[in-house]
Amino acid sequence: MTPAPWLRNVWYAAMWAEALAPQAPAARTILNEHVVFFRDAGGKAAAMIDRCPHRFAPLHLGTVLSNGRLQCGYHGLEFDADGKCVLNPHGDGKIPPAAVVRAFPVIEKHTLLWIWLGDAPADPALIPDYSVFEGAPPLHVTERGDLVLEADYKLITDNLLDLSHASYLHPGTLGNVEMASVTKTEVTQSGNTVTVSRRSPNVPIPGIAVRSYGRPVEIVDKWNAIVWNPPGNMLLEQGVCEPGAAESTGTGYYGVHILTPETECTTHYLFSAVRFNVRETDPNESAQIRDEISKLRRAAFELQDGPVIKEQARVIAEMGENAPRPALLAIDAGAVRFRRVLDTLIAQESTSA
Ligand code: FES
Ligand SMILES: [Fe+2]
Repeated sequence: MTPAPWLRNVWYAAMWAEALAPQAPAARTILNEHVVFFRDAGGKAAAMIDRCPHRFAPLHLGTVLSNGRLQCGYHGLEFDADGKCVLNPHGDGKIPPAAVVRAFPVIEKHTLLWIWLGDAPADPALIPDYSVFEGAPPLHVTERGDLVLEADYKLITDNLLDLSHASYLHPGTLGNVEMASVTKTEVTQSGNTVTVSRRSPNVPIPGIAVRSYGRPVEIVDKWNAIVWNPPGNMLLEQGVCEPGAAESTGTGYYGVHILTPETECTTHYLFSAVRFNVRETDPNESAQIRDEISKLRRAAFELQDGPVIKEQARVIAEMGENAPRPALLAIDAGAVRFRRVLDTLIAQESTSA
């Protein structure tokens, strides 16, 4: 199999920071690398190849000791956060020079753990901007969830950069057929950032916005703008307002969509949402709206997008090299643009390697 076209010298979101508990190692697969994460004695996250150099037992089956070392669960070698073996409990305690594990830079930022797998120096300034989480009241932040999807991350990016599918795949909750013909889509690019904006005037209010709107309304203007940064980091602004009114008078949420490739055909999808222009003041009402949006967003991907994309991936894989070119529509402009940017970046990285 030809190597998967992945960018390596970028930060990948490995998990929500809260998913890495103290003294509990966690395993993830990222770009086909099996990686173990754990927190050192000070709570700082560390990551290294999930394979003990002694007899290759997965290190995530081991124990994080109270001194912050990761102890292999098979014969007890202990490793520090840099991947160095610092204790051999057997015999004379001699540590062979090969008893070392490759460690990776990890940074905890915007409630996520970011890992750098590339060989170039890791630059913290390159971590994607998810500052929407900073200072957001927990009542306004929906589930920080994740799913493993059985498809290449680019197919899932196509899905997110072409939200026209909401009319057909999520009718009643995220979209409706009335939106299909009236929506205007615009694709813009700034540097390596691609934005797909859509405005749908005078459409039935989508189910997900009914309760948060705060008063009965049937027809709204709906807008969304999804910003893509390579390789699979997206932030969606989605809202509704009175027909003809300024967007600033509406209410909605920032949808966080992050795709981290696991393998050529599986992707770790991290999602959440942060509400803006929240209208209600009752915390109980906010909690219920938060839970309702969480449920709808998870169900949309688990029961609707995920299964379709999985089958789409199967069909594409079956066609193999005989696959015809897709019959593209105007709605595909964002997907075409991000792939162009991504292909260029991957080509640049491979020529500079
Ligand atoms: S395999 Fe890890 S200590 Fe033996
Ligand atoms: Fe969808």
